[in-house]
Amino acid sequence: MLNTIGLILLFSILFLVLLFVFFSFRAYFFGAPFVPSNYGVIKKVLDYTDIKEGSVFFDLGSGDGRVLLEAAKKGALAIGYELNPFWFFISKINVLLHGLNDKVTVKRENFMQAPFSEADILYLYLFPEKIAQIEQMLQKKLKKGAQVITYRFPFLNWKERKKFEKEKVFLYVKE
Ligand SMILES: C[S@@+](CC[C@H](N)C(=O)[O-])C[C@H]1O[C@@H](n2cnc3c(N)ncnc32)[C@H](O)[C@@H]1O
Repeated sequence: MLNTIGLILLFSILFLVLLFVFFSFRAYFFGAPFVPSNYGVIKKVLDYTDIKEGSVFFDLGSGDGRVLLEAAKKGALAIGYELNPFWFFISKINVLLHGLNDKVTVKRENFMQAPFSEADILYLYLFPEKIAQIEQMLQKKLKKGAQVITYRFPFLNWKERKKFEKEKVFLYVKE
């Protein structure tokens, strides 16, 4: 009996690990796997944006929700898109634990389907190829004055409003 329970437990854990590996690997093709932004960097760069009460803030690939939480603490309506069900679930818990569920929405959707024209501020921490693809799309879809933060990898054609050399963060404003 104990052996059977042990085997069921072992296979369940193995199954969950395999699922996690599968979804993490899949993220490589859709944008980037989960690597969290540094908290200090998020807080610093948000201070240089026009974020205020009611700003619509998107994190494209929101991971564990940490960027959304910081944006919401500054009054924004933060919307995250996260394909990986594990990080989606963790971010939902994170939002509940912080009592910010009236300010933060996390969608288990591909961010390519996001209504970009509604965003005031967007945050991107993705592979350079995806950043380049989104840059072109935002050129058409983003409203004038909207701000874009990219972490680690810059846009190729937009001129940055502010650049944090050491932290590798770039802030753009749509013209
Ligand atoms: C580098 S992590 C950044 C996480 C978070 N934004 C942060 O800065 O802490 C990228 C995240 O994007 C998610 N992702 C990748 N491609 C995606 C897509 N097309 N739609 C939604 N989420 C995606 C991954 O699962 C991963 O959690």
